[in-house]
Amino acid sequence: GKKKETARVISQECLAPGIYSMWIETGLAREAVPGQFISIYTKDGARLLPRPISICEIGDSCLRVVYRVAGKGTDEFSGYQAGDPIDILGPLGNGFPLEAARGKKVFLIGGGIGVPPMLELAKQLSGEKQLIMGYRDSRMFLKKEFEENGTLYVATEDGSYGTKGNVLDAIRENGLSADVLFACGPTPMLRALKAYASEHGIEAWISLEEKMACGVGACLACVCKSRDVDSHSHVHNKRICKDGPVFLAEEVEL
Ligand code: FES
Repeated sequence: GKKKETARVISQECLAPGIYSMWIETGLAREAVPGQFISIYTKDGARLLPRPISICEIGDSCLRVVYRVAGKGTDEFSGYQAGDPIDILGPLGNGFPLEAARGKKVFLIGGGIGVPPMLELAKQLSGEKQLIMGYRDSRMFLKKEFEENGTLYVATEDGSYGTKGNVLDAIRENGLSADVLFACGPTPMLRALKAYASEHGIEAWISLEEKMACGVGACLACVCKSRDVDSHSHVHNKRICKDGPVFLAEEVEL
């Protein structure tokens, strides 16, 4: 189960403009699985809700988060240095179902700040892995790590590396196919992948972490409509941070 803990920063590094990588020494690593996230508390008591950040790598007693600075909270985190204490809660969320990939041809797809959680997933999945990552430009954070853990295809918005365009353009340009896909990224990308998967009979598991705010079920910013209907025909809404962030694409409305 989840725990709150005062952990310790091991290292902090800027990987690309506004994108930071932080290793944290924590016992929470023992229970974490790919696709889960942690929530990090700021030191300023006025902003009580923590910030959810996806887990990028899981070590023996450490976790790596790779995150975008998108406000005061994440700006504060990016200033933490080795040795600093850091209050975290986790691991949170359900994670990707590794068993869905067993014996199958899989796509691991990340777009923008949805790229980092695909790294630990790539490390833990055995078998044939096609990694398709979409970046803004040639500052392709984590590229080397992906190349070490599968066959990497890259799309860049500005065309400075790989396929010009998005991850679907890279799939088409390289003539790729799969039975199962795992994806994390901006909602328009996930919406397009959901349509693509249903067209091609691919089982699609998507992480909706982009829509989270507090990560702990308190703000309700993350509610999405699901296809679950109860016996009274009420649609059951889901809280992404509690019921997800990973869902079977056909079960959620995007
Ligand atoms: Fe706040 Fe889910 S992110 S309730």
